Amino acid sequence: MIAVSQLTFKLLVLSWITARRQLIHDKSTSRETWDNSYDFIVVGAGAAGAVVANKLSECKSVRVLLLEAGGAQSAVYNDIPGMVDYIYPNGINYWNYYSESSPNFGQQYPGGRMKEPRGKTLGGSTTHNDMIYNRGNRRVYDEWANTYGAVGWSYKDLLPVFKKWENNTDPTVVESNPGYHGTRGPIQVSTPKSPDKIFETLFEVFNDLGYSYTDINGANQGGYMLTQHFITGQGFRSGTDRHYRRPQPRSHRDKGGEVSNIYLKFTKDTVEFGLSWQPGYYD
Ligand SMILES: *[C@@H]1O[C@H](CO)[C@@H](O)[C@H](O)[C@H]1NC(C)=O
Repeated sequence: MIAVSQLTFKLLVLSWITARRQLIHDKSTSRETWDNSYDFIVVGAGAAGAVVANKLSECKSVRVLLLEAGGAQSAVYNDIPGMVDYIYPNGINYWNYYSESSPNFGQQYPGGRMKEPRGKTLGGSTTHNDMIYNRGNRRVYDEWANTYGAVGWSYKDLLPVFKKWENNTDPTVVESNPGYHGTRGPIQVSTPKSPDKIFETLFEVFNDLGYSYTDINGANQGGYMLTQHFITGQGFRSGTDRHYRRPQPRSHRDKGGEVSNIYLKFTKDTVEFGLSWQPGYYD
């Protein structure tokens, strides 16, 4: 009996938190009036757009319009990390893109076209991805810079940026690689708290094979790791919508005033202000 009532209580608390978060999400897309002019219009409130709009809006005198075709996030599917596997089956907030057929990949799929879904809501694909924290290999960035001329995009250039937005909540990881992690940024990164027991066995096997436990976002990427995730200390998905589109309260105060308005409106060919919002216009 006690176990049952505790479960009921937990479910009630969870429902309350979820309902409250959904209200906040809905409110953020409910605006129905727009200004007549803006200094900047950022198209797409995804991994990049949300950050760009946030940075521009730090300047109090600048008015920014951030456009996003999708509607509000789902407090169930987009906020709760464990619901990630249900996002696609239930068709939650994504563009149903497919790749073009190529002889080199995807030939096992009908027509050789692979599913390439992209997030269609505030936060873009950071709102529906698997939240795995993997910066990628430094050589790829260096290749962009050195071979393809993307000046300023080498790993050395990007490392300070990676650190700046990161709040890594695992001291073991941070201390294992001094100089590679940030702990004061807006995006929270955490290590799974109760991983499946099978990982212990797997790690023993990897050790036997001569590999060692390595922070894959550190200096040396050759090894294995229980991957960290973009999940907050409170257990919510940590995407760019949560941390960038809504400007940080601290940055409000630092700038001594309100951050400029960020409004949402997207129509097919034009940017229109003052019309009511219609989620899913493109479908
Ligand atoms: C980093 O994340 C932890 C855990 O959620 C939080 O308590 C702390 O306030 C965060 N730090 C910053 C600078 O936001």
